[in-house]
Amino acid sequence: MTYEAHYRVWRGDDEKGELVDYKVEVNEGEVVLDIIHRLQQTEAQDLAVRWNCKAGKCGSCSAEINGRPRLMCMTRMSTFTEDEVITVTPLRTFPVIRDLVTDVSFNYTKAREIPSFAPPPDLEPGEYRMQQVDVERSQEFRKCIECYLCQNTCHVVRDHEENKENFAGPRYLMRVAELDMHPLDVADRVDEAQEEHGLGYCNITKCCTEVCPEHIKITDNALIPLKERVVDRKYDPLVWLGSKIFKR
Ligand code: SF4
Ligand code: F3S
Ligand code: FES
Repeated sequence: MTYEAHYRVWRGDDEKGELVDYKVEVNEGEVVLDIIHRLQQTEAQDLAVRWNCKAGKCGSCSAEINGRPRLMCMTRMSTFTEDEVITVTPLRTFPVIRDLVTDVSFNYTKAREIPSFAPPPDLEPGEYRMQQVDVERSQEFRKCIECYLCQNTCHVVRDHEENKENFAGPRYLMRVAELDMHPLDVADRVDEAQEEHGLGYCNITKCCTEVCPEHIKITDNALIPLKERVVDRKYDPLVWLGSKIFKR
């Protein structure tokens, strides 16, 4: 079954641009990225869009569809009515390079600010032993495809450019939590989370969790436990001392 959809797509860059209307063919089973590709093949051949896998796994095709942050390749056209105007705009939190392509280097900067996995210095290769329960805990976080939809959605930076310097965002606070929960990591993550990565800015609104295409419980399983660790340390000096001596 084929019909003609009404698309409204952002054309331009950070300086100037506008929403442009298109009428475009839609076939059964198609997703928003198919329609964007059809536009590229027909009346908007210079339309810039970033994508790679078309399978929800590379995290490249993030955009805002009718104002909602989503992966274009995982958004089925069947979720819209045929007479609905479908507006596709670039991620709002990052500078637009052109059309639907944004400069997401903010996220790379934040990733570099987190010290990497730090096992005890005397541990030899081959001595890394973990309980299955610890493996499973971090496996959820490792499902992240770095689509940055959570980073784009969090209100701490979405409307507040000035917070970007001091706030790592949900994806990278989750990385801090993952490392802090790792039984072999001996770095001091808890103080850093608060002082360097801006954990205190998060007021657990859970918007990040809502948009995660991997359904990672970012707030409940990473951010809240990390906050609890900060509070435990702050109010219980014995917990703090114990964490220093026994490292969990
Ligand atoms: Fe995307 Fe989820 Fe990873 Fe955030 S945590 S970057 S929403 S996959
Ligand atoms: Fe932002 Fe998620 Fe916290 S949306 S405020 S990081 S719960
Ligand atoms: Fe890879 Fe959409 S194209 S996630």
